[in-house]
Amino acid sequence: MSIKQLVKEKLPKHIAIIMDGNGRWANKRSFKRIFGHREGMESVKEIVRACCELDIKALTLYAFSSQNWKRPEHEVEALMGLLKKYVRSEVNELNQNNVRLQGIGDLNKLPKSVINVFNEAVEITRNNTGMVLSVALSYGGREEILNAVSKIANKIETGELLSADLNELTISENLYTAGLPDPDLLIRTSGEMRISNFLLWQIAYSEIYVTDVLWPDFRKDDLYRALIEFQNRKRRFGLTDEQISEG
Ligand code: IPE
Ligand code: IPE
Ligand code: MG
Repeated sequence: MSIKQLVKEKLPKHIAIIMDGNGRWANKRSFKRIFGHREGMESVKEIVRACCELDIKALTLYAFSSQNWKRPEHEVEALMGLLKKYVRSEVNELNQNNVRLQGIGDLNKLPKSVINVFNEAVEITRNNTGMVLSVALSYGGREEILNAVSKIANKIETGELLSADLNELTISENLYTAGLPDPDLLIRTSGEMRISNFLLWQIAYSEIYVTDVLWPDFRKDDLYRALIEFQNRKRRFGLTDEQISEG
């Protein structure tokens, strides 16, 4: 698998990843789950770097779902600790690579110290014009849609918006991902064939790529493999093959 097989014009603009399988990676080695999360951070670093090198416009990583709060307290604490560590250690490199960092999700639910570290990095990278790195934290797709609907309802109430003017863009612009194109490619590691409440609105026409590789093992070559498959897919958006080839 090599980077040489990638065709620049055929790369996705926006890649979203459900980074799953850290616990199983650790279990297989009789380690505690947290070691899987720690190794998973190394994959995050490598994949972010690789996407920057490929000049991908947007990368969205599912790091912690709103449902993940129900995990054992020590696991949640360890994940929060790792998140702080990642942001602190990577912010300079992200900045140098012109990456703009943002959080998507119900960020207010995060512990204060995590919010502070995260917001500081968001601020440092605020004016960067390269890849937008969105980290989904305390994120749920249904919650995101509900939140958008409630923002829209408020705007209708105040007269800022007319219900007759509502369209798909109104929803998109009120999601956490406002301003980003929808993901062209959604990757899920660890073989699970489900969406787990991720980007429900945005993935309407995303190509889905599921690999059995566990997230801590998912590195550059695995990303290239996914991108090569993506390049070879035929996206129809409801049209016929003939219509597509007529361009
Ligand atoms: C993904 O790995 C990381 C988070 C959900 C935070 P998991 O922790 O879900 O790993 P598995 O699915 O149990 O192997
Ligand atoms: C999805 O993984 C959430 C993240 C990767 C952060 P989960 O491990 O929480 O998903 P389920 O429980 O297998 O659906
Ligand atoms: Mg999992």
